[in-house]
Amino acid sequence: MNSEVCNKAVIVRGLNINPPIVLAPMVGLSHSAFRSLVKKIGGVGAFYTEMLAAKRLPHDNPKLSPLLMKSFEEQPLIYQLIGGDPAHIRPAVDKIHTLGAEGIDLNLGCPAPMQKRQGAGSSLVDNPSQLRSMLQQLRKNTELPVSVKIRLGHQVDDLKLMEFCLFLEGEGVDFLTIHARLIGEKFCRKPRWHGIAPAKKAVNIPIFANGGIFSVDDAKRCLEQSGADGIMVGRGAVINPWLCREIFDSIYSSENSSLELDKKRIYYDFIDLLEDRFPPEKQLVRLKLFTNYYAKTFQFGHHLGSGVQSSETLVAAKEKAADFFATVM
Ligand SMILES: Cc1cc2nc3c(=O)[nH]c(=O)nc-3n(C[C@H](O)[C@H](O)[C@H](O)COP(=O)(O)O)c2cc1C
Repeated sequence: MNSEVCNKAVIVRGLNINPPIVLAPMVGLSHSAFRSLVKKIGGVGAFYTEMLAAKRLPHDNPKLSPLLMKSFEEQPLIYQLIGGDPAHIRPAVDKIHTLGAEGIDLNLGCPAPMQKRQGAGSSLVDNPSQLRSMLQQLRKNTELPVSVKIRLGHQVDDLKLMEFCLFLEGEGVDFLTIHARLIGEKFCRKPRWHGIAPAKKAVNIPIFANGGIFSVDDAKRCLEQSGADGIMVGRGAVINPWLCREIFDSIYSSENSSLELDKKRIYYDFIDLLEDRFPPEKQLVRLKLFTNYYAKTFQFGHHLGSGVQSSETLVAAKEKAADFFATVM
């Protein structure tokens, strides 16, 4: 894949997101093995870690923590923080600097009750003074690009969203990702890509649009309706790890490229990467999470899904996968 041909790169503070397609932060899914799998297939301009608790991060050992393990090819890599206490930001940022990050993101979209209780994630949206302190701590302690990931708000309210995005820009945020759903809306709800457009008009910093991109056609419509500078792809890239590459080929590349897919090989490549990156006791749970989504790429994938889910060891899961591929492929 020749990514040089993309002339729509998003460049912020020296970080070149090229192509402007990023792989979403996803707990249990966007780890080193998955990022490497997708990197090899291509089409991604930047990767994210899953959300990392700002309070705990300084104490995590990058050689032991599955959240921090990474290989050199997963670049550029943006570390996503979640937390509600400004005092936790500086130690977390100091730690991130030791890990070779290319950017830092603050999660302002997660509506999970546990995060709410800690005044973190989407609850910071309702606490502007605390949020300002968090962002000031971030901006003061790093020269890396700082981004935030938000949802559209509690209700559809263009003016409020515009004001909020202007506030974020004013606090030194370099770019935004907007998940095109309201706070609390389920992931199965149709995304409101057009709801991002007012934010795009309001600010001068780049915006990535996220939510419900499962095909090249979705990516095109999302970009059209939102006017965003780029897109973030989550579950669609787990179901089809080649989705970002297909989007790149179709939207951003001027070359004719044909993608040869061997879906069985990709599944085994993923298992190899899991075995390479994680200790044995951490592998099976990640294979199960991945397979939950990847199985959807096959017509009778529920057989793969249920076989792997019921396995108690990685060896057993591999046998179930082999049975599945022997029958359907
Ligand atoms: C299993 C799972 C874990 C997620 N974890 C995170 C996370 O750690 N941080 C975050 O900002 N969003 C997280 N999200 C939300 C995604 O980043 C993304 O906003 C959402 O899935 C919508 O995008 P999609 O339709 O392309 O999947 C998670 C989503 C899923 C499905």
